[in-house]
Amino acid sequence: MILSFLVALSAVTAVFCGAPSGPWDAFNYAPESKIVYPRAIRELNGTVLNAGKLLTSGSATLTGSGSYVALDFGIEIGGLISLNFDNVSSSSSIALSFTESPLFISPRTSDDSVLPTANMSYDGVLNIAAPLEIGHWTMPTARLRGGFRYLTIVSTSDDSVTISNVSCAITFMPHVDNLREYSGYFYASDPVYWDSNFLIKIWYSGAYTVQTDIIAADSGRQVPFVSSPGWSNDATIGVASPVIVDGAKRDRDIWPGDMGIAVPTQFVSTNDLIATRNALETLFAQQNAETGALPYCGAPLCGTFVPPNGSSDTYHAWTIIGAYNYYLYSGDTEWLQKTWSNYTKAVRFLTNKVDDTGLLNVTAPNDWGRIGQGGHNSEANAIYYKVLTNSAALASLLNDTELATSYTANASALKSVYNEAFWLEDEGMYRDNETTTLCPQDGNSLAVLFNVTESAEQASAISEGLTRNWNEYGAVSPECPDTIAPYIGGFELQAHFVSGNDERALEFLRLQWGYMLYTNISVQSTLLEGYTANGSLYYRSANGYNYDASYTSHAHGWSTGPTSALTFYVLGLTVTSPQGQTWSIAPHTSGLPSAQGGFETALGWFGVDWASSTDAFSMSISTPTGTSGVVVLPINGTVTVDGSVRQVNSTVQLEGGNHTVIVRA
Ligand SMILES: *[C@@H]1O[C@H](CO)[C@@H](O)[C@H](O)[C@H]1NC(C)=O
Ligand SMILES: *[C@@H]1O[C@H](CO)[C@@H](O)[C@H](O)[C@H]1NC(C)=O
Ligand SMILES: *[C@@H]1O[C@H](CO)[C@@H](O)[C@H](O)[C@H]1NC(C)=O
Ligand SMILES: *[C@@H]1O[C@H](CO)[C@@H](O)[C@H](O)[C@H]1NC(C)=O
Ligand SMILES: *[C@@H]1O[C@H](CO)[C@@H](O)[C@H](O)[C@H]1NC(C)=O
Ligand SMILES: *[C@@H]1O[C@H](CO)[C@@H](O)[C@H](O)[C@H]1NC(C)=O
Ligand SMILES: *[C@@H]1O[C@H](CO)[C@@H](O)[C@H](O)[C@H]1NC(C)=O
Ligand SMILES: *[C@@H]1O[C@H](CO)[C@@H](O)[C@H](O)[C@H]1NC(C)=O
Ligand SMILES: *[C@@H]1O[C@H](CO)[C@@H](O)[C@H](O)[C@H]1NC(C)=O
Ligand SMILES: *[C@@H]1O[C@H](CO)[C@@H](O)[C@H](O)[C@H]1NC(C)=O
Ligand SMILES: *[C@@H]1O[C@H](CO)[C@@H](O)[C@H](O)[C@H]1NC(C)=O
Ligand SMILES: *[C@@H]1O[C@H](CO)[C@@H](O)[C@H](O)[C@H]1NC(C)=O
Repeated sequence: MILSFLVALSAVTAVFCGAPSGPWDAFNYAPESKIVYPRAIRELNGTVLNAGKLLTSGSATLTGSGSYVALDFGIEIGGLISLNFDNVSSSSSIALSFTESPLFISPRTSDDSVLPTANMSYDGVLNIAAPLEIGHWTMPTARLRGGFRYLTIVSTSDDSVTISNVSCAITFMPHVDNLREYSGYFYASDPVYWDSNFLIKIWYSGAYTVQTDIIAADSGRQVPFVSSPGWSNDATIGVASPVIVDGAKRDRDIWPGDMGIAVPTQFVSTNDLIATRNALETLFAQQNAETGALPYCGAPLCGTFVPPNGSSDTYHAWTIIGAYNYYLYSGDTEWLQKTWSNYTKAVRFLTNKVDDTGLLNVTAPNDWGRIGQGGHNSEANAIYYKVLTNSAALASLLNDTELATSYTANASALKSVYNEAFWLEDEGMYRDNETTTLCPQDGNSLAVLFNVTESAEQASAISEGLTRNWNEYGAVSPECPDTIAPYIGGFELQAHFVSGNDERALEFLRLQWGYMLYTNISVQSTLLEGYTANGSLYYRSANGYNYDASYTSHAHGWSTGPTSALTFYVLGLTVTSPQGQTWSIAPHTSGLPSAQGGFETALGWFGVDWASSTDAFSMSISTPTGTSGVVVLPINGTVTVDGSVRQVNSTVQLEGGNHTVIVRA
């Protein structure tokens, strides 16, 4: 632990070595260059001469009002469009429209990013009016389009216009030149699914999704919202740049709940924690000095459009958990010390909501979109339990023993009250609150993940119970009717692994994320914010999104749970103290024959490469010299470490360095 303090700030200044190259690189979605060009013509209408030349260096001519070409960039991208006007008349004019899903390709409107409206045409098009100037043209910075796959160029005059050299300058990850320079990787063939590369693809899909959500702090969604038609992505949303936001197209704002999934993804793939620190600093800077309340989301969205400080007890708690995660991954002690008084004040804000029953009473019920939040809610209390156990660990690290003791006592008291208040023996699950028999996906998944359960049997019963919500597209959240919520699904996925139901975890992964990645209504590269029980994009129609299927985001970091889960559980590699000074390697073979991968922290490379058969398991591991950890083996038998037999059962203590561990049953 002491060492990690010495290297405190090296996390953000470390020399980049990165993941080794290998066949997994072919699955990395991130483009080679930050200037990208269309890869295909998706749709044509009217008179468009030589449209195909827009895919090479040639020119195309659009003639007459309504003629258009819809270009496909092949994957989700975001940024500023440039093109060359090669020949125009004095009255030629064009318009641009953008969409993530191909369902919303239209010459008349983009998909929606400003407000959800039932006509699905709030945003409209970007008009480029006559007279056009011959030469290179770039769209105005404020009209940056944060997330799209399809660009439609439509002629809006009776005259002709000849264009060429259509490109997009990517604006996400503004501080990084090479988007493919990852610090981690994952590689495992799926012996069951129709696409044997699925697990690799979904790992990289999650990683790339989060990359599209790292944006310059002056490129957030403008609030107050611009009137229809239009959009404007030039709001300042962070105290420093870049920041991590919820989604590429929208909200383009800091949301702490989303970070609970997106930041672990970032840690295992790019370890690009600057955006996370900036986002957390933005949230803490908006803390209410008197009460300690943290905002539901970052300004300007929160404070103007949605309620300001103290409006969400769960998201308040997620900022606190975010601070722990940032510290665990970065070892940035200076930042933790600087933030500590705000941090403890934020914990106290929640503790003050605990009533004489011993449960936290949620009085600020905004949450991830679920309904029925409020009062003695089991999801909120599971999150609060995690806040307490995390805070006890941090207080110990900072040598505040008294505080650590009190946090630990509060945690253990809460755990016992929680189990008395919420456990339904007949269901084998926790209920949402004391006046319902509804067993929520969020509360149950988080209770297992955060160890609020009191036994392995209980955790396993919950894992089994959660499958009752599954249909052919994924898990329908009982607490958010007609909704498949991949954010909460990311916690459910981990709950199946934590409870030892590894094959079920992969079954769920294939079911829900297989749908998202391959359905032709998605961008087939980054991950959907959510969808309905029948697989449609009408996410939260009756619950905030106004029946606007085009408003749903296709690149939401909160849907990337599989990326960290494959690293943390299937590879089994986790850090158990800041930067991985201590670590754990506990592979969940999950019916796979082999897996390999790893990640980098400021201390160096952590890698695992395992192979499994019915009666043997072998693994080579690599961790930085000076660290130490524990290996938990997936089968019992004769254990050989670096060629010598060890008298151990399933747990082996090891020092950093390179080791080979073999077990024969
Ligand atoms: C297709 O282009 C023609 C002009 O060539 C226009 O009249 C028509 O409205 C366009 N169709 C669509 C669907 O925009
Ligand atoms: C430029 O466009 C005009 C019509 O607007 C057309 O008459 C002329 O031939 C075009 N010139 C070239 C070089 O294509
Ligand atoms: C769509 O609805 C919004 C909100 O009512 C309105 O502002 C906008 O003008 C409408 N757009 C169209 C094209 O009707
Ligand atoms: C084509 O577009 C790229 C990207 O914006 C730009 O760098 C280049 O100068 C353009 N080419 C010409 C001939 O204008
Ligand atoms: C702590 O909170 C105050 C508001 O109460 C804020 O002004 C300050 O920037 C925060 N400090 C840190 C280190 O986040
Ligand atoms: C208890 O949970 C049910 C189901 O989610 C919900 O309908 C109800 O509003 C909740 N009660 C309170 C007080 O929030
Ligand atoms: C939570 O607190 C509110 C406000 O004080 C109160 O109205 C409500 O009854 C409490 N809920 C429970 C379950 O005690
Ligand atoms: C905590 O105490 C240990 C042992 O005295 C010391 O080495 C370490 O620097 C202290 N940590 C902090 C953050 O003060
Ligand atoms: C979970 O909680 C139990 C106490 O109920 C404790 O014995 C166990 O170590 C905890 N597990 C983890 C992984 O923290
Ligand atoms: C290994 O054996 C121990 C008892 O000695 C048991 O608790 C553990 O679950 C076994 N592990 C596996 C992976 O079977
Ligand atoms: C392995 O497990 C057996 C049976 O539970 C136990 O007797 C033995 O002490 C364990 N060996 C080690 C090295 O932990
Ligand atoms: C582990 O192996 C790698 C690759 O062979 C090597 O680069 C590295 O130096 C080794 N680490 C240690 C601590 O021996």
